[in-house]
Amino acid sequence: MDRVGSVGERSNMRMPPRLVPLIEYGVIDRVVRPLMSGKEAQVYLVETQERLYAAKVYKKATERTFHNRAEYTEGRMVRNSRDQRAMGKRTRHGRARDEATWNAAEAEIIYKLDAAGVRVPKPLAFVEGVLVMECIEGPDGGPAPRLAECTLEPEHAEAVFEQLIREVVKMLCVGVVHGDLSVFNVLIEENGPVIIDFPQAVDAAQNRNAKKILLRDVSNLTSHFKRNVPAHDLRFGHEMWDLYERGELKPDSPMTGQFKLPKHEVDAERLIQHMREVEDDEVKARRPKPTTDERFEAPPGRIRERRPPKSRPPGQLQGTKATNPVVAPQVVVRGRPSLTPTPAAPIAPTRMSAPAVHSAPAPQPSSPSSAPRPSSSRNSGPARSTAPQRTSPPAKGAAAQGDGDAPRRRRRHRRSRSGAGGGVAGSTGSHS
Ligand SMILES: Nc1ncnc2c1ncn2[C@@H]1O[C@H](COP(=O)(O)OP(=O)(O)O)[C@@H](O)[C@H]1O
Ligand SMILES: [Mg+2]
Repeated sequence: MDRVGSVGERSNMRMPPRLVPLIEYGVIDRVVRPLMSGKEAQVYLVETQERLYAAKVYKKATERTFHNRAEYTEGRMVRNSRDQRAMGKRTRHGRARDEATWNAAEAEIIYKLDAAGVRVPKPLAFVEGVLVMECIEGPDGGPAPRLAECTLEPEHAEAVFEQLIREVVKMLCVGVVHGDLSVFNVLIEENGPVIIDFPQAVDAAQNRNAKKILLRDVSNLTSHFKRNVPAHDLRFGHEMWDLYERGELKPDSPMTGQFKLPKHEVDAERLIQHMREVEDDEVKARRPKPTTDERFEAPPGRIRERRPPKSRPPGQLQGTKATNPVVAPQVVVRGRPSLTPTPAAPIAPTRMSAPAVHSAPAPQPSSPSSAPRPSSSRNSGPARSTAPQRTSPPAKGAAAQGDGDAPRRRRRHRRSRSGAGGGVAGSTGSHS
């Protein structure tokens, strides 16, 4: 565990205010460095009793991108009925309670799943809205890469897929559906996959959307691992839900992917998988081709982590205090290609490629579309959320200036649209 950081090293980083109470209460000894900033949270590497942990600090509701929360929170009950009413009415008190409940949900679920034998980070504490948990370590001793950043050898990929299906079954056995299961919420450690990120998890017994959400979770996995397998062999979601509904699902129930759908039932799993494949192909088609020096040299072993070399020079994150001074934390955090395109695709794109995207003209510097658009709903999965950013990258000049001109450009654009302005309006497609 110690290899993921540098126990005992001093860092110059400013203490994140949300972590101060944890030090005051003696839950952690110190903050080592930021580990990763996700869409919903900032994760820090922290140290306590000479061991390293991950501390997850949730972003405020206004900074998060997770939409359709109601779909996920249905069936979640709050003990205090006054709070429940206030949350329903969206009063100030209600919103604050709602926020606290959302943050606490992950801690509650992670304790439950850990107890049920699901491989999740082992929780240490949940204090003042911050979840402190085991820091998952990757095969090279650094913080574990996400599945999206790994290229797995075929047999290893098969084993990881089977393990993940088994974990989904185990979760369903205790009434939990992840709700945002994707290659971005699976970390790969030496022994296999570890599922993370549970604030949106739904109660399978109480939530009317649970089946739909489960089918989507499972099809996110099948579309990543099983692209060329016929859809009727991939009905794992239907198969496990059917057993669950009949009260016959067991943690070790065999899963075949074979399931005969009742005549009236649409193969939602297949539909979702199909949509996901189209999106994935679009994202891949938009990726710029990697230059040779961007390719990450594969460490020996079954997993090739797809990272640009500058992000984590080999060995830099390894070692303990003696071998790993200061650990260049910022380099790791910024360099982790969180949602940026990665050089190699784990599974070759097949039939649904999107050639039109290749030929899309580059946006002009003065074009309003050069301002980066906000990413789309998190419900649609991380792959989808990267798509709009790729579709309309910031113009070169804008990127260099941190796009500080974007508001001015937008104002100019609005003015020209409200006037006679033929060209700009035409370029936005308003004539069509
Ligand atoms: N326990 C952990 N061990 C190692 N890395 C972690 C851990 N938890 C989170 N991370 C890293 O932080 C990132 C963001 O965490 P996540 O729980 O997915 O939050 P978000 O809701 O913002 O996506 C993850 O993609 C992963 O890289
Ligand atoms: Mg996540």
